[in-house]
Amino acid sequence: MRLDRLLSNQNGISRQTARTLLRQGRVRVDNQVCQDGLRPITPFMQVCLDEACLQTAKPAHYLMLHKPAGYLSATSDPQHPTVLDLLPAELRPHLHLAGRLDRSTTGLMVLTNDGQWSRHLTAPGSRLAKVYRVTTREPIAAETGERFAQGIYLAREDLLTSPAELQLLTDHEALLTIYEGRHHQVKRMFHAVGNQVTALHRERMGPLQLDPGQLAAGEFRQLSSNEIQAVWATT
Ligand code: URA
Repeated sequence: MRLDRLLSNQNGISRQTARTLLRQGRVRVDNQVCQDGLRPITPFMQVCLDEACLQTAKPAHYLMLHKPAGYLSATSDPQHPTVLDLLPAELRPHLHLAGRLDRSTTGLMVLTNDGQWSRHLTAPGSRLAKVYRVTTREPIAAETGERFAQGIYLAREDLLTSPAELQLLTDHEALLTIYEGRHHQVKRMFHAVGNQVTALHRERMGPLQLDPGQLAAGEFRQLSSNEIQAVWATT
């Protein structure tokens, strides 16, 4: 919500009064005077008028989780453990998932209570690179990289995947970078070239890289403020 609207939603403050209060420098956002009525205000910001606090800042949570195989990317499930089961009980009710992984897929998952930030990370239009380490049943054919660069036809959606980059690591292992996140996309791309994914691990989402070797499967940590800002900085 915009700052001027937040002010004029208060009892006894008209739009005209809100403009005057802003001009007089009587409104502070996170302890800094703010005169810009158009400033977007999130629930994670404190807003004060003189000595009165109009909105207290809700604690924001931004977590990176190393998802183990066997956990569902869901907030609850009657049958399988979910990724939320790996987090402290007091945090669970506040968090949502910024992107999903199949139950068998391991690697980077991001959880937050900041909906604007997670939309920035996952919006289809943001085209952030997602990097997967893929292990396959058959050797990866020489032309696979070219096929993925040209795009793979997905019949269900009736579209071509956007150009993806494949970096071969061994006969059966590669790093694949995609810029969208369709359902089972990596598995379907390999299936379309006559191969099968036997293990899938997400290493990166945009600027967020799973801590190599430091965050064991099942562990999580808070993102640093640099990491949080780096996501905002992506276009
Ligand atoms: N693509 C898949 O096929 N599965 C995942 O979990 C993620 C991307």
